[in-house]
Amino acid sequence: MSLSIHSDIQAPKMLEQIAQYARMLQRFDSCLRSQRELGTLRRLFKQGEIMAQLESCETELRALLAIFTAKQETGLATALVKFNIDTEMRHQELLEMISSQSSSFETVSLIGQSSLNTSSGSFSLLPASPKIFHGRESEFEQLVDILMTDPARVVILGPGGMGKTTLAMATLHHHKVANKYQTRHFISCESAHTRDSLVAIIGSYLGLDTSSTSERAVLALLSAGQPCLIILDNFETPWEALEGRAKVEAFLALLADIPHVALLLTMRGAERPGKVQWTHPFIRPLMPLDQAAARQTFLEIADETHDSSEVDQLLKITDNIPLAVQLVAGIAASVGCQDTMERWNLERTALLSAVHACNFHLMQRSCLV
Ligand SMILES: Nc1ncnc2c1ncn2[C@@H]1O[C@H](COP(=O)(O)OP(=O)(O)OP(=O)(O)O)[C@@H](O)[C@H]1O
Ligand SMILES: [Mg+2]
Repeated sequence: MSLSIHSDIQAPKMLEQIAQYARMLQRFDSCLRSQRELGTLRRLFKQGEIMAQLESCETELRALLAIFTAKQETGLATALVKFNIDTEMRHQELLEMISSQSSSFETVSLIGQSSLNTSSGSFSLLPASPKIFHGRESEFEQLVDILMTDPARVVILGPGGMGKTTLAMATLHHHKVANKYQTRHFISCESAHTRDSLVAIIGSYLGLDTSSTSERAVLALLSAGQPCLIILDNFETPWEALEGRAKVEAFLALLADIPHVALLLTMRGAERPGKVQWTHPFIRPLMPLDQAAARQTFLEIADETHDSSEVDQLLKITDNIPLAVQLVAGIAASVGCQDTMERWNLERTALLSAVHACNFHLMQRSCLV
């Protein structure tokens, strides 16, 4: 089946520009993400490159905005309506295509099968299980045990980059968890700054039409559905704004009232949202990896061939924080341990002030452990 484009002569140009705009926003987004992920070590190896990327994004953004604002509003509105219709038709065609090919899913590998989720007419792909995952044995075991109880309500806490999302991803692929919860939703809340946007994001993951998404519709769909596990990743985003917190907590409490919906949240900080009876015993906020796990992680990324005392020196820089271990190991993989150490010594002062600024910012955002 082909995916046809239904549009008049003007629409393709507009669609082209929208696509260009979307591509540019994606680049902008990934640039900002990579900058954020690099965190305190960014100056060590990528500052120039990131600045250049941001500048180029800004220039392109300005140029595109100039084109958009120059368009007549009526033309834009018409094109957007057509765009919506076209998108809806493509969506329908895609759903038909998926259902007509459902038999071919049977040939998907075991990992693939456990990553595919269909529910309420929607189709979502779970993130793959982490390929490098060390330590965290007790938290992992405790999480799986909690998810075997009913109703399971659990939060993974800890500072940024400490491995909360990774632990959640490993847990959702555990065979006991996959067996118990045939339907699992992994929902990123990173862009949900209010209760309304949180509801909209959850609704869209569940396959609700954006025009009919409401708190009531989401709750009704989940209440009438099969037992499922909902993972709300980066829940600190909707929760952290004090003025909207009560509303977010009230919605979360309603989700938690559905007995067959298990909830797993990941959140920066050390505080759980109120109004939900979280399952005991609580999982304590994640701490840095133990030395063996940090070393194993480092060696898998940087290769086994490095001198062990150099590896230990570099691990000291990272405080065994998984994100830092990953970044430093990545640098060591390309320039070697010695060069990495030299760069660190050179830029230490600048980095330390960046660390302070970053810690101050994080402390302001949430109460860190
Ligand atoms: N147990 C682990 N073993 C090896 N690597 C890990 C482990 N946990 C996390 N990592 C790596 O560390 C990085 C950061 O992990 P992750 O994204 O899970 O942190 P996070 O706590 O969710 O961060 P944030 O608060 O920014 O969402 C990832 O690239 C991940 O691959
Ligand atoms: Mg995370």
